[in-house]
Amino acid sequence: MIGMGMIFDETYRPFFEAVARKGLFDRRFGDLDVQLTGAATRTGKRAEAYQQAAADILPPFTSFAGDDAAAQLIDTAPAFVCIATPDNRHFEAARDALRAGIHVLIEKPSVLSLAELDELTQLAVENRVLARVVYHKLLDPDHKKLRTLVVDNVLQHVNNGYCSLLEPRQISGQQFAEWITGRNPGTYVAVHYIKLIDFTFGGRLKTITCTGQRGIVGPADGPTWDSCQLRLIYEYEDGREAAFDLHTSWVTPDNFPGYVEQEVQFRFDNGIWNGHSRRRGVELTVAGQTPLQLKNTINNHYNATCVEPWGERTQRGYGVEVIERFAREVALVEYGGPAAERMERLQQVRSLTYSDLSADRQVVAAVEAMELILAEQAAGRPDRVVRFDGHALQLI
Ligand SMILES: NC(=O)c1ccc[n+]([C@@H]2O[C@H](COP(=O)([O-])OP(=O)(O)OC[C@H]3O[C@@H](n4cnc5c(N)ncnc54)[C@H](O)[C@@H]3O)[C@@H](O)[C@H]2O)c1
Repeated sequence: MIGMGMIFDETYRPFFEAVARKGLFDRRFGDLDVQLTGAATRTGKRAEAYQQAAADILPPFTSFAGDDAAAQLIDTAPAFVCIATPDNRHFEAARDALRAGIHVLIEKPSVLSLAELDELTQLAVENRVLARVVYHKLLDPDHKKLRTLVVDNVLQHVNNGYCSLLEPRQISGQQFAEWITGRNPGTYVAVHYIKLIDFTFGGRLKTITCTGQRGIVGPADGPTWDSCQLRLIYEYEDGREAAFDLHTSWVTPDNFPGYVEQEVQFRFDNGIWNGHSRRRGVELTVAGQTPLQLKNTINNHYNATCVEPWGERTQRGYGVEVIERFAREVALVEYGGPAAERMERLQQVRSLTYSDLSADRQVVAAVEAMELILAEQAAGRPDRVVRFDGHALQLI
């Protein structure tokens, strides 16, 4: 595990704890033991605290800290590494792990430039391992249903849509204070919806525009963004286009009712899809606990600690399921049949584009373009446009 912050705690930790108890089974690869063998973090404090807290559940693992923590962990040659460091620190660790012939899972956004993406994709091919990225929103049952309606041609030709994702101010002000300078909420969370749009509707990304606001997280003329508005234009095989507006912020007041509030609307030739995180189910109030210790709007599909009807305590949801799915894909490649057929199994998993790095090009192009445009705005050249021809970005 490289990086042991908020997302480790929400999704990787419950995966490693569940798999330590139950193992990983599939008829094709048998009964496997999956152990967390090491963690690389900046200071080592969270890893060591977790090691103590989980002493009854997990076998001991090695904690590496400091600038070369990731390299030291990679030297131990684990079966796979998961990279959950800040957005702009994924590339090096992924590159070094792939070079060492280790399967890699990277948190979203995979990397911040096409050059980095292409290098990692090439390394994965050369070293015959998986390079995959986590976009857990694709496993959200609502988004699976949306895609199913599109695949089955029930919803026909998307014309336009919007997505909005609002994070509380404590994310930018406290949680990410160490790495917030120069960052923006679009790269951090719009990327979830860029992937949803890209994977669900297909098509060719051709134009990216973006603007943003500053002055709360950092100075009004600096490189750190409070909120941003991204527009993507796609073209489909029949020559028709669609436009998508993605609005994100990480300066919403901490006590706003939605906590992380998410809303989407997609309009089709023959229909409309409306999704809203606060309308999909539960709103909870507990005196003295909501909205900070407990959330008002709890997404129990993503991640929920539960007492199962049969008495067992679990932490479950699509956020955890996506990590387990990756472990199963690695297991299938390594143990799912004769060694002579490993390459076929590797290709089979690679062809599942929902998480393969090679299929993340348009998402990375959108992220790189967004960051280019914001950098231009910060340098006093606002309102730039980026065009993408499938290979390279052109700033206009
Ligand atoms: N899938 C999701 O919904 C989701 C949610 C939150 C975060 N994320 C992504 O996960 C990643 C991590 O986010 P987070 O919220 O856990 O961040 P965080 O700031 O809470 O934790 C970052 C972790 O990385 C470690 N780290 C920093 N630099 C390092 C380095 N050079 N080498 C080794 N370790 C290093 C820190 O010690 C810390 O353990 C980000 O890319 C973020 O976008 C995804």
